[in-house]
Amino acid sequence: MKNSKVKYEFDVVTLMPEMFLALSKYGVTGRAFEEKIVSLNLWNPREFTTDLHKTIDDKPYGGGPGMLMMADPLVKSIEAAKERQDKIGIKNSKVIHMTPRGKLLSHNKVNELFSLKGLIIIASRYEGIDERVNDWVDEEVSIGDYVMSGGELPAMAMMDSIIRQLPGVLNDAESASQDSFVNGLLDYSQYTRPEVFKKNKVPEVLLSGDHEKIRLWRLKESLKLTWKKRPDLLAEKLLTKEETRLLNEVKNEQEQGSV
Ligand code: ADE
Repeated sequence: MKNSKVKYEFDVVTLMPEMFLALSKYGVTGRAFEEKIVSLNLWNPREFTTDLHKTIDDKPYGGGPGMLMMADPLVKSIEAAKERQDKIGIKNSKVIHMTPRGKLLSHNKVNELFSLKGLIIIASRYEGIDERVNDWVDEEVSIGDYVMSGGELPAMAMMDSIIRQLPGVLNDAESASQDSFVNGLLDYSQYTRPEVFKKNKVPEVLLSGDHEKIRLWRLKESLKLTWKKRPDLLAEKLLTKEETRLLNEVKNEQEQGSV
Protein backbone atom coordinates (compact mmCIF):
# COMPACT_ATOMS: atom_id res chain seq x y z
CA MET A 1 0.00 0.00 0.00
CA LYS A 2 1.03 3.59 -0.69
CA ASN A 3 0.93 4.62 2.94
CA SER A 4 1.30 1.76 5.39
CA LYS A 5 -0.41 3.70 8.18
CA VAL A 6 -3.67 4.09 6.25
CA LYS A 7 -6.09 1.49 7.61
CA TYR A 8 -9.08 2.26 5.42
CA GLU A 9 -9.41 3.70 1.91
CA PHE A 10 -12.66 5.41 0.96
CA ASP A 11 -13.45 6.39 -2.61
CA VAL A 12 -16.66 8.38 -2.92
CA VAL A 13 -18.52 9.33 -6.09
CA THR A 14 -20.25 12.66 -5.52
CA LEU A 15 -21.32 15.83 -7.29
CA MET A 16 -20.67 17.73 -4.05
CA PRO A 17 -17.16 16.81 -2.90
CA GLU A 18 -16.86 19.86 -0.62
CA MET A 19 -19.54 18.43 1.67
CA PHE A 20 -17.06 15.79 2.81
CA LEU A 21 -15.00 18.45 4.58
CA ALA A 22 -17.57 18.04 7.37
CA LEU A 23 -16.14 14.55 7.89
CA SER A 24 -12.48 15.11 7.07
CA LYS A 25 -11.93 18.35 9.00
CA TYR A 26 -13.87 18.04 12.24
CA GLY A 27 -13.87 16.07 15.46
CA VAL A 28 -12.84 12.46 15.87
CA THR A 29 -13.02 11.71 12.13
CA GLY A 30 -11.07 14.89 11.32
CA ARG A 31 -8.29 13.65 13.61
CA ALA A 32 -8.31 10.24 11.87
CA PHE A 33 -7.75 12.00 8.53
CA GLU A 34 -5.07 14.27 9.95
CA GLU A 35 -3.24 11.25 11.35
CA LYS A 36 -3.65 9.48 8.00
CA ILE A 37 -5.37 6.48 9.54
CA VAL A 38 -8.03 6.89 6.88
CA SER A 39 -7.91 8.23 3.33
CA LEU A 40 -10.63 9.70 1.13
CA ASN A 41 -10.61 10.13 -2.63
CA LEU A 42 -13.48 12.00 -4.21
CA TRP A 43 -14.70 11.39 -7.75
CA ASN A 44 -16.97 13.96 -9.36
CA PRO A 45 -18.99 12.51 -12.26
CA ARG A 46 -19.02 15.98 -13.82
CA GLU A 47 -15.34 15.52 -14.56
CA PHE A 48 -16.12 12.42 -16.59
CA THR A 49 -18.57 14.15 -18.97
CA THR A 50 -17.65 14.83 -22.57
CA ASP A 51 -20.10 17.60 -23.55
CA LEU A 52 -19.54 21.34 -23.26
CA HIS A 53 -22.12 21.74 -20.48
CA LYS A 54 -20.75 18.84 -18.43
CA THR A 55 -24.20 17.27 -18.26
CA ILE A 56 -24.64 14.65 -15.56
CA ASP A 57 -28.45 14.42 -15.34
CA ASP A 58 -31.41 13.99 -17.67
CA LYS A 59 -35.19 13.44 -17.68
CA PRO A 60 -36.50 9.93 -16.97
CA TYR A 61 -37.77 7.92 -19.96
CA GLY A 62 -41.54 7.52 -19.68
CA GLY A 63 -41.93 10.93 -18.08
CA GLY A 64 -42.40 11.87 -14.46
CA PRO A 65 -40.93 14.46 -12.14
CA GLY A 66 -37.28 15.17 -11.48
CA MET A 67 -34.02 14.29 -13.11
CA LEU A 68 -31.86 11.18 -13.00
CA MET A 69 -28.10 10.88 -12.83
CA MET A 70 -26.93 9.53 -16.20
CA ALA A 71 -25.18 6.19 -16.38
CA ASP A 72 -21.99 7.05 -18.27
CA PRO A 73 -20.36 9.68 -15.98
CA LEU A 74 -21.30 7.59 -12.94
CA VAL A 75 -19.88 4.35 -14.30
CA LYS A 76 -16.69 6.10 -15.42
CA SER A 77 -16.30 7.51 -11.89
CA ILE A 78 -16.85 4.07 -10.32
CA GLU A 79 -14.34 2.49 -12.69
CA ALA A 80 -11.74 5.17 -11.92
CA ALA A 81 -12.26 4.57 -8.19
CA LYS A 82 -11.97 0.79 -8.67
CA GLU A 83 -8.78 1.21 -10.67
CA ARG A 84 -7.28 3.37 -7.92
CA GLN A 85 -8.12 0.88 -5.18
CA ASP A 86 -6.89 -1.97 -7.33
CA LYS A 87 -3.54 -0.19 -7.86
CA ILE A 88 -2.96 0.13 -4.11
CA GLY A 89 -3.72 -3.55 -3.60
CA ILE A 90 -7.42 -3.55 -2.75
CA LYS A 91 -8.91 -5.99 -5.24
CA ASN A 92 -12.62 -6.20 -6.06
CA SER A 93 -13.59 -3.33 -3.77
CA LYS A 94 -17.19 -3.35 -2.71
CA VAL A 95 -19.37 -0.64 -4.31
CA ILE A 96 -22.20 0.68 -2.17
CA HIS A 97 -24.95 3.00 -3.37
CA MET A 98 -26.58 5.09 -0.62
CA THR A 99 -30.31 5.00 -1.34
CA PRO A 100 -33.54 4.89 0.68
CA ARG A 101 -34.40 1.61 -1.07
CA GLY A 102 -31.31 -0.09 0.39
CA LYS A 103 -30.91 -2.33 3.42
CA LEU A 104 -31.03 -0.42 6.70
CA LEU A 105 -27.61 0.37 8.16
CA SER A 106 -26.99 -1.37 11.49
CA HIS A 107 -24.18 -1.99 13.95
CA ASN A 108 -23.67 -5.43 12.36
CA LYS A 109 -23.44 -3.95 8.86
CA VAL A 110 -20.89 -1.37 10.08
CA ASN A 111 -18.80 -4.18 11.59
CA GLU A 112 -18.94 -6.11 8.34
CA LEU A 113 -17.78 -3.06 6.31
CA PHE A 114 -15.14 -2.24 8.92
CA SER A 115 -13.50 -5.61 8.29
CA LEU A 116 -12.72 -4.58 4.67
CA LYS A 117 -9.69 -2.52 3.63
CA GLY A 118 -11.64 0.00 1.61
CA LEU A 119 -14.97 0.89 0.11
CA ILE A 120 -16.36 2.71 -2.92
CA ILE A 121 -19.50 4.69 -2.11
CA ILE A 122 -21.91 6.37 -4.53
CA ALA A 123 -23.65 9.41 -3.08
CA SER A 124 -26.35 10.20 -5.63
CA ARG A 125 -28.45 13.33 -6.09
CA TYR A 126 -31.70 14.18 -7.87
CA GLU A 127 -34.34 11.46 -8.14
CA GLY A 128 -31.68 8.74 -8.23
CA ILE A 129 -29.55 6.97 -10.80
CA ASP A 130 -30.14 5.22 -14.13
CA GLU A 131 -31.05 1.64 -13.13
CA ARG A 132 -28.34 0.22 -15.41
CA VAL A 133 -25.62 1.60 -13.11
CA ASN A 134 -26.62 -1.15 -10.68
CA ASP A 135 -24.54 -3.60 -12.73
CA TRP A 136 -21.57 -1.84 -11.04
CA VAL A 137 -23.14 -1.76 -7.56
CA ASP A 138 -22.70 -4.57 -5.00
CA GLU A 139 -25.01 -3.28 -2.31
CA GLU A 140 -27.63 -0.63 -1.61
CA VAL A 141 -27.62 0.87 1.89
CA SER A 142 -30.15 3.18 3.55
CA ILE A 143 -29.68 5.06 6.80
CA GLY A 144 -33.40 5.17 7.60
CA ASP A 145 -36.91 5.16 6.22
CA TYR A 146 -36.93 8.77 5.10
CA VAL A 147 -35.70 10.54 1.99
CA MET A 148 -32.77 12.95 2.07
CA SER A 149 -31.78 15.37 -0.69
CA GLY A 150 -28.69 13.40 -1.51
CA GLY A 151 -26.52 10.48 -0.47
CA GLU A 152 -23.65 12.60 0.88
CA LEU A 153 -24.91 12.88 4.47
CA PRO A 154 -25.95 9.19 4.55
CA ALA A 155 -22.49 8.27 3.17
CA MET A 156 -20.81 10.36 5.86
CA ALA A 157 -22.96 8.77 8.58
CA MET A 158 -21.85 5.33 7.45
CA MET A 159 -18.20 6.38 7.05
CA ASP A 160 -18.15 8.00 10.49
CA SER A 161 -19.35 4.83 12.17
CA ILE A 162 -16.67 2.81 10.35
CA ILE A 163 -13.85 5.30 11.05
CA ARG A 164 -14.50 5.53 14.82
CA GLN A 165 -13.87 1.78 15.08
CA LEU A 166 -10.48 1.81 13.33
CA PRO A 167 -7.57 1.10 15.68
CA GLY A 168 -5.93 4.32 16.88
CA VAL A 169 -8.88 6.60 16.11
CA LEU A 170 -10.44 6.67 19.57
CA ASN A 171 -8.27 6.90 22.63
CA ASP A 172 -8.91 4.70 25.69
CA ALA A 173 -11.21 7.25 27.26
CA GLU A 174 -13.38 7.38 24.12
CA SER A 175 -13.24 3.62 23.55
CA ALA A 176 -15.83 2.29 21.11
CA SER A 177 -16.07 -0.93 23.13
CA GLN A 178 -18.40 0.87 25.56
CA ASP A 179 -20.69 2.27 22.83
CA SER A 180 -24.39 1.55 22.62
CA PHE A 181 -25.17 -1.56 20.50
CA VAL A 182 -21.73 -3.13 21.01
CA ASN A 183 -23.12 -5.56 23.60
CA GLY A 184 -26.59 -5.47 22.06
CA LEU A 185 -27.81 -2.94 24.64
CA LEU A 186 -28.24 0.82 24.78
CA ASP A 187 -25.63 2.76 26.72
CA TYR A 188 -26.34 3.44 30.41
CA SER A 189 -27.12 6.96 31.69
CA GLN A 190 -24.08 9.12 32.56
CA TYR A 191 -23.59 12.11 34.83
CA THR A 192 -20.89 14.73 35.30
CA ARG A 193 -20.41 17.70 37.67
CA PRO A 194 -22.16 19.23 39.52
CA GLU A 195 -23.34 16.57 41.95
CA VAL A 196 -26.67 18.36 42.32
CA PHE A 197 -28.29 20.09 39.33
CA LYS A 198 -31.53 21.98 39.98
CA LYS A 199 -32.25 19.76 43.01
CA ASN A 200 -31.61 16.62 40.95
CA LYS A 201 -28.84 14.53 42.52
CA VAL A 202 -26.44 12.12 40.78
CA PRO A 203 -27.29 8.49 41.75
CA GLU A 204 -25.52 7.77 45.04
CA VAL A 205 -23.86 4.55 43.83
CA LEU A 206 -21.79 6.50 41.26
CA LEU A 207 -20.18 8.45 44.10
CA SER A 208 -19.46 5.33 46.17
CA GLY A 209 -16.16 4.36 44.53
CA ASP A 210 -17.32 0.72 44.67
CA HIS A 211 -16.45 -0.51 41.15
CA GLU A 212 -18.45 -3.73 41.32
CA LYS A 213 -21.57 -1.93 42.53
CA ILE A 214 -21.12 0.67 39.79
CA ARG A 215 -20.70 -2.04 37.13
CA LEU A 216 -23.91 -3.73 38.24
CA TRP A 217 -25.82 -0.46 38.43
CA ARG A 218 -24.69 0.45 34.90
CA LEU A 219 -25.58 -2.93 33.46
CA LYS A 220 -29.00 -2.74 35.08
CA GLU A 221 -29.44 0.80 33.76
CA SER A 222 -28.53 -0.39 30.24
CA LEU A 223 -31.05 -3.21 30.51
CA LYS A 224 -33.72 -0.84 31.83
CA LEU A 225 -33.17 1.72 29.05
CA THR A 226 -33.12 -0.94 26.35
CA TRP A 227 -36.26 -2.60 27.74
CA LYS A 228 -38.09 0.75 27.81
CA LYS A 229 -36.81 2.38 24.61
CA ARG A 230 -35.77 -0.48 22.29
CA PRO A 231 -37.46 -3.74 23.36
CA ASP A 232 -36.76 -5.06 19.83
CA LEU A 233 -33.03 -5.16 20.69
CA LEU A 234 -33.67 -7.19 23.84
CA ALA A 235 -35.74 -9.68 21.89
CA GLU A 236 -32.69 -10.38 19.69
CA LYS A 237 -30.18 -10.68 22.52
CA LEU A 238 -29.15 -13.78 24.45
CA LEU A 239 -29.00 -12.62 28.08
CA THR A 240 -26.43 -13.90 30.56
CA LYS A 241 -27.66 -15.19 33.95
CA GLU A 242 -26.62 -11.92 35.54
CA GLU A 243 -28.44 -9.86 32.90
CA THR A 244 -31.59 -11.97 33.28
CA ARG A 245 -31.53 -11.45 37.05
CA LEU A 246 -31.04 -7.69 36.70
CA LEU A 247 -33.76 -7.40 34.05
CA ASN A 248 -36.16 -9.27 36.32
CA GLU A 249 -35.33 -6.80 39.08
CA VAL A 250 -36.14 -3.94 36.67
CA LYS A 251 -39.46 -5.53 35.74
CA ASN A 252 -40.38 -6.14 39.41
CA GLU A 253 -39.50 -2.57 40.29
CA GLN A 254 -41.64 -1.37 37.40
CA GLU A 255 -44.58 -3.40 38.72
CA GLN A 256 -44.09 -1.79 42.11
CA GLY A 257 -44.07 1.60 40.40
CA SER A 258 -40.52 2.57 41.26
CA VAL A 259 -38.95 2.67 37.77
N1 ADE B 1 -30.32 9.09 -0.10
C1 ADE B 1 -31.46 9.77 0.12
N2 ADE B 1 -32.08 9.33 1.21
C2 ADE B 1 -31.30 8.34 1.73
C3 ADE B 1 -31.42 7.49 2.86
N3 ADE B 1 -32.44 7.54 3.69
N4 ADE B 1 -30.44 6.58 3.05
C4 ADE B 1 -29.40 6.50 2.20
N5 ADE B 1 -29.26 7.26 1.11
C5 ADE B 1 -30.20 8.18 0.88
